[in-house]
Amino acid sequence: MDGGARGAYVRRVMLHAVRLIALGVILLLGLAWGAAWLGRGEGESLAEAFARQAARLLGQEPPAPSAGGVQLPQGMALGGAFSLTDHTGRAVTERDFAGRFLLVYFGFTYCPDVCPTELGTIAAAVDELGEAGERVTPVFITVDPERDTVEAMADYVARFHPRMVGLTGTPAQVSAAARAYRVFYAKVNRPEMTEYLMDHSSFIYLVGPDGRVRNLFRPQVAPEAIAQAVRGQLRAGGVSGAASEGGGFRETGSVAIMPPEAAPAGHGPGRGESRS
Ligand code: NI
Repeated sequence: MDGGARGAYVRRVMLHAVRLIALGVILLLGLAWGAAWLGRGEGESLAEAFARQAARLLGQEPPAPSAGGVQLPQGMALGGAFSLTDHTGRAVTERDFAGRFLLVYFGFTYCPDVCPTELGTIAAAVDELGEAGERVTPVFITVDPERDTVEAMADYVARFHPRMVGLTGTPAQVSAAARAYRVFYAKVNRPEMTEYLMDHSSFIYLVGPDGRVRNLFRPQVAPEAIAQAVRGQLRAGGVSGAASEGGGFRETGSVAIMPPEAAPAGHGPGRGESRS
């Protein structure tokens, strides 16, 4: 065998090996997808089942399904203590919601379009969950306590969902709650308008039974994506288990990155919102 023939032979053997390896990988993937398909949970997509089972094989906690969601950086805790007044006039803190899942949105009742849209999305997600939705409380927290009185909140939340809780408070209480959730808000006055508007960040938060944020969703997320994330959380540990057994994002081994565009996802008069 001369040098050239030898080289060709080696290349042929290597090509053969590469083909075998590729075939093996394809077979394995096929088996994994098949297993994912067979082991799919109720309401779970094939991709979700695959990710969950792959994570289990690798000895990790199942990742929280978050289609349309934003993964929080590891160790970043959102949510926590607040002291506010609900739409029935009762003083409440985060402890009144302990053990329940919450879908929380910060906004203001004078908001012409974005807040109503997002609150409608939350209501639709809760309804989409059916019976499981009864374990989830939709919560609307105002960033405009000056105008959003208890009465205004009661009238407003009733338009979206019979179980939606409206929370207002003193400016200091609202500011503290917004800080815990890293919500930005600012009053905006425009000369051509008689009423001011609020510019504010616009995320929907899925809060776990321990009061910590498990998922957050960008504006215009589909109700189905939220419902899917809630189902994932319920599967990951149930109402009391998820908090202590590492169902939250803080304990998962998954790589979590907050995309830079996630931070300023707000809305207000500066972004084409106007009160007409
Ligand atoms: Ni708004």
